[in-house]
This record gives sequence, structure tokens and C-alpha cells, in this order.
Amino acid sequence: MAVTRTFSIIKPDATRRNLTGAVTKMLEEADLRVIASKRIQMTKEQAEGFYAVHAERPFFNDLVAFMTSGPVVVQVLEGEDAVLRNRKIMGATNPKEADEGTIRRTYAESIEANSAHGSDSDENAAIEIAYFFNEDEIVG
Ligand code: PPS
Repeated sequence: MAVTRTFSIIKPDATRRNLTGAVTKMLEEADLRVIASKRIQMTKEQAEGFYAVHAERPFFNDLVAFMTSGPVVVQVLEGEDAVLRNRKIMGATNPKEADEGTIRRTYAESIEANSAHGSDSDENAAIEIAYFFNEDEIVG
């Protein structure tokens, strides 16, 4: 299996509850290495651009409002099969459907306030990483 990268966001519901360390610990225990990390306040424009693929969906405005409602921690994670590995430890989008022991099952409040984002493919991971990080901010 190849060592690859993925992109992660610790969402505002988690930073608000001081869970940045707790979520990161679960990522690290899943053998994902944090090779870049920064806490930012996303602007409306940044969030709209990031979620542009969902622009036509009914929850788009709520999603943008939520993602700009407080600080987030954007991260680059590295590990074997990082995209899949991260999605596995995050659990399903809806915390009610997420497996026991996953980040979302453990910490998420709702389908919107679901504590973590993770890229869904290697291709999107590269796009999402480049959206928030310069290559010199990533130290593998
Ligand atoms: S998809 O395309 O169906 O797989 O989309 P999904 O992963 O389910 O959801 C995409 C992101 O939108 C958020 N989401 C919502 N926000 C607000 N309200 C509702 N009802 C809602 N449903 C989904 C969800 O948390 C996903 O965020 P990310 O950051 O991509 O995980």
C-alpha cells in the first residue's frame, strides 16, 4: 500500500468544545501523521469556494454559515492509503450512521456539526490541500 496524503478539517463544533487535541489523537492513533496544521477563521468566500461542488444543494448556505461560525483547524495527513484510512476513522457523514469508535460517532452533534471533514479521493485531496496550504508549509 502506498503512503499518500489527505486533507482534513476539524470543524467549528469541535474547536468550540476544545476537541482539537482529542480529534487529532484519534487521527494519530489511526496511523495518520499530521504533516501540516493551522487554525484559521474561514471567510465566507473561502468556504463557498471549498464547497462549490455542493452549491446547488439545499443545505449549502447553512453549511457555509456553519463552517464560518468559528475557527477550524485545517490539516494535511499522511499515511498508508490516507484518504480511505481517514474516512474510516471519521465515520459516516451522519453521526447516527457512523460506526462505534469513529470521530463522528464519538464527537459529532449532527450531520452539519459533524466535527471533521476528510477528502473523498486522492484527486480531491490534492485540490483541497492546495486550496489551504503552500508546499513549504507541509513538512513530511
Ligand atoms: S455527498 O455528496 O452526499 O457525499 O455529501 P455528504 O458527504 O453527505 O455531505 C457533504 C457535506 O455537506 C454537509 N452536509 C450538511 N450540512 C448541513 N445540513 C445538511 N443537511 C447536510 N448534509 C450534509 C456534510 O457535513 C458534508 O460536509 P464535509 O465537510 O464535506 O464532510
